Amino acid sequence: MSSLSLKDKIDLAKLPKHIAVIMDGNGRWAKKQGKLRVFGHKNGVLAVREITEAAAELGVKYLTLYAFSKENWNRPKYEVDALMSLLVSTIGKEVTTLQKNNIRLKAIGDIASLPLKNQRELEKAITLTKNNSRMTLVLALSYGSRWEILQAAKSMAHKYKEGLISDDDFVESRFEAELNTTGFPEPELMIRTSGEKRISNFLLWQLAYAELYFTEKLWPDMRKEDLFEAILDYQRRERRFGKTSEQLQNN
Ligand code: FPP
Repeated sequence: MSSLSLKDKIDLAKLPKHIAVIMDGNGRWAKKQGKLRVFGHKNGVLAVREITEAAAELGVKYLTLYAFSKENWNRPKYEVDALMSLLVSTIGKEVTTLQKNNIRLKAIGDIASLPLKNQRELEKAITLTKNNSRMTLVLALSYGSRWEILQAAKSMAHKYKEGLISDDDFVESRFEAELNTTGFPEPELMIRTSGEKRISNFLLWQLAYAELYFTEKLWPDMRKEDLFEAILDYQRRERRFGKTSEQLQNN
């Protein structure tokens, strides 16, 4: 089946506004070819480009990619260093493409824990692209959802103590304003590659009602058609948000 026909089947009126992706399987992809894990990460960049382009072409408004988790710091030093420099060089190289395609870059996670060089490169790209409006590409870097939720709770506690907020402010919408993702819509679709069926501390609050899609494909093998397939699968599902099927049909 050609990519065109898959893409044509997508109902643009029912496109998810926000897609979140756990890019998994780079290490296994490399190992299968007798190469070092870092080779997999390098080839993962092509998939990042493909999926970003495909999402923008369709009209998806937000794409969040889990590029580095808080737990990833525990990997061997050479892999962490290689990933960090790959991130810096990729962001540096891709910023003109982001500009050309009117894509805004954002980051979530413990950005202050990244090497300074990364922070600067990231900040530069974020500032340069801040007025772009076609799609927002969110990189989750040194991100962990429990960390994010705790940060939000601490911030609320601090503001409460200072008298800046009251009991009435302890509602979902006010709490969300303290999360890293404030201002972004909730992801309707979460994709994880490489056959693992876990959330791995990714957007735990934000994924509460998301449809989860798992594919056996390893991240470096992901191409535009694979995103189209995931979206088609999402569009075949019925999202009930706790209601019954009948209630939805009557609406
Ligand atoms: C998971 O595969 C992948 C990562 C931890 C890193 C993802 C990073 C990239 C694709 C590099 C570029 C990204 C951007 C946004 C510029 P794994 O190493 O856990 O694979 P495994 O499960 O097979 O070991």
